[in-house]
Amino acid sequence: MTDPLLKIEDVSVEFPAHKGVMRALDHVNVEAGKGKTMAIVGESGCGKTTLARVVLGLQPTVSGSVTLNDDLAVLPDTILAQRIGMVWQDPFASLDPRWSIGRIIEEPLKLAGADGDVTQILKSVGLTPAMADRFPHQLSGGQRQRAAIGRAIALRPPLVICDEPTAALDLSIQAQILNLLQDMQQDLGCTYLYISHDLATVRFIADEMTVMYFGKVVEQGNAANIFDDPQHAYTQRLLRSVVTIDSLGRVPDVEEQDETEEALTV
Ligand SMILES: Nc1ncnc2c1ncn2[C@@H]1O[C@H](COP(=O)(O)OP(=O)(O)OP(=O)(O)O)[C@@H](O)[C@H]1O
Ligand SMILES: [Mg+2]
Repeated sequence: MTDPLLKIEDVSVEFPAHKGVMRALDHVNVEAGKGKTMAIVGESGCGKTTLARVVLGLQPTVSGSVTLNDDLAVLPDTILAQRIGMVWQDPFASLDPRWSIGRIIEEPLKLAGADGDVTQILKSVGLTPAMADRFPHQLSGGQRQRAAIGRAIALRPPLVICDEPTAALDLSIQAQILNLLQDMQQDLGCTYLYISHDLATVRFIADEMTVMYFGKVVEQGNAANIFDDPQHAYTQRLLRSVVTIDSLGRVPDVEEQDETEEALTV
């Protein structure tokens, strides 16, 4: 890849388990290009959020490194916040209920001692200036996620991590939020690390994609190519299960799953 903004190299993470340790990430490598969207996909528990926490410096690793623009991403929190914006799955949980929307968006600017126009940020995420005085519970789910995106991009960070940003939203609102993320990327030129198990949204937004299975990367590359011609048995199963559930209303049968398990043990 030419000029990656984010480089995750050989990252492994372990958690204590009842029999020794559990490897949540196993020698993971991911690169995300400037102004591009790298999606991280895989089933629940495969390590997606753990990877996001590593990039944010919140999760200790047993090996590996994360670099942003070739700087080791072990930085003071205030500098890290200027470099990485974060949008979590559930805007209700991630926004302080006691703070007005204006204060929530202003906070990263204040912490960094940076200039920024809250009204302008509200407008850029499709909210009205009057919403600055409202509180999270007075907004709809989609509006709350717009506010969370406003907070994430307030400092115009080069990297924004979105961890299941549409999972808590109705289908019609999901599309609006994806469009907003795309518009922001065009305006700000930011790179997205877009975490999701919803392949329909990944197909829409991703340039590149990394498929994870139990803490390991099993397939990586151009997203459109992987959707058209998945190489790994697990990716094939993942994509097939979307088609099956969406169009046929059934989950893959046991035989199909067994075949995949065999292929994966290679
Ligand atoms: N703090 C922790 N202590 C112990 N185990 C953890 C901790 N955080 C995550 N894990 C385990 O690490 C694995 C990966 O978890 P992670 O939350 O990264 O998965 P995920 O891919 O984000 O899943 P989901 O799609 O459900 O959000 C899981 O088995 C999880 O139980
Ligand atoms: Mg997660």
